[in-house]
Amino acid sequence: MVILLFGPPGSGKGTQSRLLSSWLGVPALSTGEMLRSEVAEGTDLGRAVSELLATGKFVSDELVNQIVVRKLLQPDHARGCLLDGYPRTVQQAEHLEQFLASAGKNRSHVVHLDVPSEMIVARLTNRLQCPNCKRIYNVSSGELRWTTECGECGALLERRADDREAVILQRLHTYHDITGPILRLYNGEHYHRIEGTLPPEDVFLQIQQSLRPHLGPLTPSY
Ligand code: AP5
Repeated sequence: MVILLFGPPGSGKGTQSRLLSSWLGVPALSTGEMLRSEVAEGTDLGRAVSELLATGKFVSDELVNQIVVRKLLQPDHARGCLLDGYPRTVQQAEHLEQFLASAGKNRSHVVHLDVPSEMIVARLTNRLQCPNCKRIYNVSSGELRWTTECGECGALLERRADDREAVILQRLHTYHDITGPILRLYNGEHYHRIEGTLPPEDVFLQIQQSLRPHLGPLTPSY
């Protein structure tokens, strides 16, 4: 089973992906995180995409499709996986579903974290992330009142290069124009709308309730 975490920048895809991955015991793949790691490591790919990421522009469909399909072919992704930030264009969605069909797998389930644009800028300008274990925080949540160190591993938290207001607005614009139309490809039992404005733990509960009837051989850990 492939589950797509879908929603605008800052809707909570990374936050929920971590919770879902541990609930379902399947890997989570974030295309944004993978690309940022390439930038941080200074690889050829990282150097080629660094400017695109910092300005909120998309990496080419061809490149991202290749990265994702290569991952999906690995044995640890055979039972299922979570995709965060992919697909992001109609072309990517069509490519993914064609690949799954040709591999004899079911169509993906889309978990749509619905959050209005007005809430996004505040969330993202207050986001900090651990460069080491990738845990996501928000300075307004109270969790970081006395520290800017990661509660999991102690590393100093960082701000993402694309979490600047002008870039966030550009990312939202691109989401509505280019990514949103993907939802037309998914309907019925393959589409799960989630109220993403609630606190993270309530968002997670909604996702669990919505997915539970469709899990098939995947066994949740609680
Ligand atoms: P990517 O990393 O995927 O970024 P994004 O889609 O813009 O989403 P974010 O990671 O910013 O937000 P999120 O929804 O994960 O929210 P989070 O959980 O962190 O992509 C980055 C870039 O990579 C793209 O711009 C593009 O350049 C490139 N790229 C990636 N994939 C690509 C593709 N397929 N094709 C082409 N290019 C691609 O939460 C945000 C904040 O809100 C946090 O502070 C969190 O603590 C807080 N929060 C979370 N949930 C809640 C809640 N329920 N209530 C209150 N606060 C909350």
